[in-house]
This record gives sequence, structure tokens and C-alpha cells, in this order.
Amino acid sequence: MTRQYRITLLPGDGIGPEILTVTVDILKLIGTQLDIDFQFQEALIGGSAIDETGEPLPDQTLKMCRNSDAVLLAAIGGYKWDNLPREKRPETGLLAIRAGLNLFANLRPATILPQLIDASSLKPDIVRGVDIMVVRELTGGIYFGEPKGIFETETGEKRGVNTMAYTESEIDRIAKVAFETAQKRTGKLCSVDKANVLDVSQLWRDRVTLMAEQYPDVELSHLYVDNAAMQLVREPLQFDTIVTGNLFGDILSDAAAMLTGSIGMLPSASLGLEKPGLFEPVHGSAPDIAGQDKANPLAQVLSAAMMLRYGLNEAKAATKLEKAVLEALAQGYRTGDIMSQGMKSVGCKAMGEVLLRILES
Ligand code: IPM
Ligand code: MG
Repeated sequence: MTRQYRITLLPGDGIGPEILTVTVDILKLIGTQLDIDFQFQEALIGGSAIDETGEPLPDQTLKMCRNSDAVLLAAIGGYKWDNLPREKRPETGLLAIRAGLNLFANLRPATILPQLIDASSLKPDIVRGVDIMVVRELTGGIYFGEPKGIFETETGEKRGVNTMAYTESEIDRIAKVAFETAQKRTGKLCSVDKANVLDVSQLWRDRVTLMAEQYPDVELSHLYVDNAAMQLVREPLQFDTIVTGNLFGDILSDAAAMLTGSIGMLPSASLGLEKPGLFEPVHGSAPDIAGQDKANPLAQVLSAAMMLRYGLNEAKAATKLEKAVLEALAQGYRTGDIMSQGMKSVGCKAMGEVLLRILES
């Protein structure tokens, strides 16, 4: 029987529209092959939304997202909007959609593909076999804690304030996602905090430790965030699943991403308790190469695979898509960011065509 899904597409800014176009063509093909009827609807977010409506996340966009089975986002931001006040910046749109859809769990896999091992800035012996899943809390912590703002003190001096805060329930729900994720992987979970200094981290550690009793099959460890950053580049193979708060997760997921050599390869999933989840590449909008057909669409394609797997429960389609990406790499096709000697250099569109050909064969 045909399965029907309504997908909201958010192309955003920079290379966003290019990589999303390639991905949608691929999804359409997979849909016909596996009897899935995708109904796509497009909405505005980020800089392009600011230009058209004055808001980085128009109400209409949030409504359309809520009314869909999954949201596929490309990328937001660009030089043009960098100097606007914070509430009018593209990034604010991203934070607002995370909060608006209650997407508290952000899954960021960092997997070394054998085909791309030379792309890493670390020695092949250190990164071979790296397969890490960062589970980042996404709607709490210092990104959203109150009070926040720039205030004037009694002496007339300005004081900038943000607050890192987590409630027990916020910690518990992300910890649950992390334990379940670890269970499906190798059963190793490392919780990262700064409990030697921060009270909020002490509570984090206490709650995660308490929850471990319910998951006797998961081996839990704890690291302070500074040590975790060091260990990630020293001996990344020690990690399987990492769970951490919003800010630490922001930083560590970039570091983990770079182990793989190109951030242009990495997808992510942001999930709440209910549909829709939001799926987006970890990389940004790359305004320097926008519109030149140079972008690597693979992180977007792999984000669509995560959408199929985690958002729509279409594991078969997800696997098919992931295999096609590996096959394109095995056949030697590379965009500029992952190009190496002897490989076949292609642009964004051509990479898409390679994938379509592989899927059809
Ligand atoms: C990310 C980005 C965002 C974040 C920015 C663009 C708001 O760095 O998704 O990691 O800090 O969460
Ligand atoms: Mg980030």
C-alpha cells in the first residue's frame, strides 16, 4: 500500500536551495520505487524569510511545519544578515523552530567512511573506524535559560547575561533518548558535563546516573567537557554515544564532525516526542560558494535518509539512500570539499545525477 507523507521543505539561504533540489529529486525517485507518496510543500526560513516577511521564522512556516510528517531543512544564514539585531537574524529562526516544534533531542552522527579517510585532518590510524553519535539537548540549557540579555548595572556599565539551567524532566527526557540510542548501537554511553564547576552539570550527572539503573545493558561513563574535547581528538575510537547539553553539544558535535574530514558529509536529526522531526545537514549555508553548483549535497541527502529512518519509520528507503551515497563515493565521485587525487570531481547537480543513476540501476 502506498504510504503518504507531507514533507515541509525549508531551503533557507546560501547553498540551501541547491542541495535541497538535488535531494528532493532523489526522494521522488525513491518514492516511486518503494511506493511512497511524498507531498512536498515549501516554506520560508532564515535570511530569505527576513527579506520577504521581515521575520526569520514566519508564523505561516511554523504552521506548515506543524502540519506535516517531517521537516527537511537545508541551511540558513549569510553575510547579508550578520549585522541585524539578534531577534532578526537567521539563527534566531533556527532556534525558534527548534523551540516551536519542541525538538529537544538532536542526533548528530559522525562516521568515518573508509572512502574518505584521507580527508580527515587526523592520522588515518586515529580515525579509522570512528562511528560516534552525539545526542545534544536542543531546546534548553544556556541557549534558552532566563534571565538573558544585556542589562545596565547601577554604575551604568553594561552586563551581558545568559543562564545555563536544566530541570530534572529536561535532563531525563534527553537521557532517555541517549540510553535508547546507545542500546541500539554498541551499548556505550558517555555523558559530558562540567560537574566539577557548574551546579547545573551536577544535577545533570545525578539524573543521568540515576537513569542508568534502568539500562543495565548500557555502560555509562562521565567526562568533563574539556577532557571530552581533548579525548575526541586524542582517541576518538573510545566513543560510541555521547550525551550532553545544548552548548557543549554544539561545540563537541563540530569537533566530532571534523574527525570525518568534511562537515559537508554529516546529517542530523532533531526530534521531539511527536512528529514532525526536523532533519538538516550539520554544515551551514556556505555563502561563499552559493549559486555556483559547487556544494556537496551529500549531507542533505543523508539528512533525508535520517528523515526516512527516524522521522517516518521507512528504514528500507533510508538504507537504500545511504547505500547509494557510499556507492557514489566508491565510484570515485567527489565534490570540491572532499576531492582528492585521482578522484572524479563533480558539482552539486552532477553528484545528484550520479545518485539517481545508482538508484535506478
Ligand atoms: C548548530 C548551529 C546553531 C547552534 C546556530 C546556527 C544557531 O551552530 O546547529 O550547531 O548553535 O545550535
Ligand atoms: Mg553548531
